[in-house]
Amino acid sequence: MRNFVVAIDGPAGSGKSSISTIVSQRTGFTHVDTGAMFRAVTLYALENNIKLDDENAYGFLDDLKLIFKNDHTYLNGRDVSNEIRTDIITNNVSTVAKIARVREKMIEYERESAKEGLILMDGRDIGTVVLPNADLKVFLTASKEERAKRRLKENLERGIETTYEQVLEDIIARDYKDSHRAIAPLRCPEDAIVLDTTDLTIEQVVEKLIELIDRGMGNGRI
Ligand code: DC
Repeated sequence: MRNFVVAIDGPAGSGKSSISTIVSQRTGFTHVDTGAMFRAVTLYALENNIKLDDENAYGFLDDLKLIFKNDHTYLNGRDVSNEIRTDIITNNVSTVAKIARVREKMIEYERESAKEGLILMDGRDIGTVVLPNADLKVFLTASKEERAKRRLKENLERGIETTYEQVLEDIIARDYKDSHRAIAPLRCPEDAIVLDTTDLTIEQVVEKLIELIDRGMGNGRI
């Protein structure tokens, strides 16, 4: 079986997850959404009254069963794909993602998931830390105003009432936390191709990414 690993990093709201989902459906790559894993750990911690900023409170990780399959996330066998997208998780996940023990555990899962086959993994530190030898690295970005507009639209579609100003403030706060944490902060890998999606439609970004994959694989996807 042919192996080819694509690492996609970028800030919150840059479209990583949606783009990766569509590209994986069209190309047969397996999508691994690492943000979903951090979100699932956050859900478990909140449900079990774990003190989120206490490094020593994460012993439960040794027994936690996390599976990401076909764009669904399973926590100890339970499908938590919708729950991990709620605001309470979004607002707390950065605190959990700072914990060294959590990051070590996630790296184990992430590397295990990318061991063989056609893999498309998205996150914040995939090209820099998790899979530094990925065959293709892409950094997806967009202006914070555009990302806030997209997030606001998503919220409205899901019936969540927020203002543009609030969403923009949240995006700025999350950018700061993701790129200033001590371990594996968000940064663009030196050897990544940067795709600024501010003025592009989802379809245009999808096409560009598929083009990059095809070129990287010498047009030999199958
Ligand atoms: O992409 P997302 O919004 O689902 O990610 C949720 C959080 O998880 C994000 O605030 C940062 C963190 N994260 C991380 O630290 N490293 C990753 N590889 C993926 C996500």
